[in-house]
Amino acid sequence: PTGSVADRLGRPLHDLRISITDRCNFRCVYCMPKDVFDKNHVYLPHTALLSFEEITRIARLFVAHGVEKIRLTGGEPLLRKHIERLVAMLAELRTPSGQPLDLTLTTNGSLLAKKAQSLKDAGLNRVTVSLDSLDDATFKRMNDVDFSVAEVLHGIDVAHQVGLGPIKVNMVVKAGMNDQEIVPMARHFKDTPYILRFIEYMDVGASNGWDLKEVIPSAEVARRIGEQLPLAPVDPNYTGETASRWRYLDGGGEIGLISSVTQAFCSDCSRARLSTEGKLYTCLFASGGHDLRALLRDGRSDAEISSAVAQLWRGRGDRYSALRTSQTSLPGQGLEPGKKKVEMSYIGG
Ligand code: GTP
Ligand code: 5AD
Ligand code: SF4
Ligand code: SF4
Repeated sequence: PTGSVADRLGRPLHDLRISITDRCNFRCVYCMPKDVFDKNHVYLPHTALLSFEEITRIARLFVAHGVEKIRLTGGEPLLRKHIERLVAMLAELRTPSGQPLDLTLTTNGSLLAKKAQSLKDAGLNRVTVSLDSLDDATFKRMNDVDFSVAEVLHGIDVAHQVGLGPIKVNMVVKAGMNDQEIVPMARHFKDTPYILRFIEYMDVGASNGWDLKEVIPSAEVARRIGEQLPLAPVDPNYTGETASRWRYLDGGGEIGLISSVTQAFCSDCSRARLSTEGKLYTCLFASGGHDLRALLRDGRSDAEISSAVAQLWRGRGDRYSALRTSQTSLPGQGLEPGKKKVEMSYIGG
């Protein structure tokens, strides 16, 4: 039961995003707002988490079905103890044609300076770092734990020095919060090896109090930057890329615009997500996942798990962003009324 699979909309399975912890040392207002993720919030117990062996076993089965890229996410993935050991295990996987995977992770950068070298040594290819502002007061208002910009910038530089590139920097733009930082961020990362990407604030989860009024459309981001630093569109690197690419006309590099709200990219979405406790989600906005951990811990064979994965993917018809309306995004609601969408910190970005 191996070989590549396509879903109901003809989309292949290409990308596996694995959340390895539901914890984070930041409390970003758009992701883990402090009033919801406070000291009473209950995180998953250690026994609920997939072990590194379990993760690697599932990843191997996904690779046999066509996955070529694995991204570790969280919460904050660098909080998971001994993550280097997991990276080393995943770095050994090969595609059916014998190629190594594109192995990467998304981090808030807080532990990057400390961990970059060991991650590189373990076989990680590259990292993507979240940074929402260059202004300390704004950044601290957004991460809500008093973490400073300089430490994240230092983490990015260390990661670059040890060869964890090309590094992408993700900025979630929230109107009235950090939109004044769009042009300064663009200027800062122009003419550097780093690719800055602007992400439209999304209605993920059920606790960030999302409001369409707080979304700055990517077209507006491009307009504000282009006014001062002229831009031209660039073709995608690969089918299903989340970001649309723009380059500076003067050769100063490129930026990306991730427009999940105003220009959904579901039609090519080849991303599967594995939650910290081993549930497979076929969409970022799903309210439920499929319990692969139960299969693992029930003693099922590789062949059984592999065919279960193929069957789940073949049945996939998700295209939440394409269908999104303000109606479906009322707090606490997913596409299925009454069911809560899963939180970003649980499933990764
Ligand atoms: P590259 O491999 O570098 O192209 O990365 P990527 O764009 O696939 O992954 P990354 O984690 O950097 O994604 C950036 C952001 O885009 C995420 O944090 C999410 O906010 C958003 N995003 C990624 N995948 C999806 C998706 O499938 N659907 C939606 N709606 N948003 C997504
Ligand atoms: N909208 C858009 N992006 C988000 N992220 C987290 N929550 C949201 C949201 N509501 C992004 C983070 C990071 C990645 C893990 O997901 O900024 O880049
Ligand atoms: Fe943590 Fe990332 Fe969520 Fe911020 S966006 S709270 S850094 S998981
Ligand atoms: Fe893929 Fe769902 Fe995101 Fe659409 S909304 S791009 S289907 S994860």
